[in-house]
Amino acid sequence: MILGTVRKGRLSANAARLLTDELSKRASVETELIDIATLPLRTDDAGEATKDPGFAARMERADALVIVSPEYNHGYSGMLKHVLDSCLEEYIHKAVGIAGVSAGPFGGTRGIQDLLPVLRELGLVTVFWDVYFANAGKLFDSTGKLLDTSCIPRIGKFLKELIWMARTLRHGRENISLD
Ligand SMILES: Cc1cc2nc3c(=O)[nH]c(=O)nc-3n(C[C@H](O)[C@H](O)[C@H](O)COP(=O)(O)O)c2cc1C
Repeated sequence: MILGTVRKGRLSANAARLLTDELSKRASVETELIDIATLPLRTDDAGEATKDPGFAARMERADALVIVSPEYNHGYSGMLKHVLDSCLEEYIHKAVGIAGVSAGPFGGTRGIQDLLPVLRELGLVTVFWDVYFANAGKLFDSTGKLLDTSCIPRIGKFLKELIWMARTLRHGRENISLD
């Protein structure tokens, strides 16, 4: 689980915690929440030159990623892109799903649409479900508790699909040669 913003007061942290809790309920799934604000990534270079060994090791170990992506000016977070760009081989043939978060009514969909081709270029395999946390300012209380649980069934479908894709791709990586 990648919390894709460093903004002070970010509401995406509530979404990331909720999704981590939901994933943790699934048997045989081990989940780690990676807060990009805690990564010691350099900002005086770009791409794999900025690679943090700790982040890279976690990407290497992961079978799947969930990216919690806030919508900033109809796009995704620049810091999230900077972090994602720091690895490459670690992502290849692994599953990824996106949860968008926005203050407005569209649940971060505009940022999600722009992020999809980036993830493809990184070698990740996207699932066809997203999660949308719209009107984020009203969706969580001040302690981060979800106030409207109508998103839970969709989260369930999203995670089911992601886990299936992660298992399928792991089988492929381990058993099926590219040549
Ligand atoms: C620079 C910036 C641009 C933003 N642009 C949008 C936007 O285009 N559409 C929208 O619905 N919300 C926008 N927001 C609000 C965020 O989507 C909102 O804060 C949401 O909770 C997700 O971001 P957060 O995790 O930083 O809180 C913007 C916030 C910032 C800081």
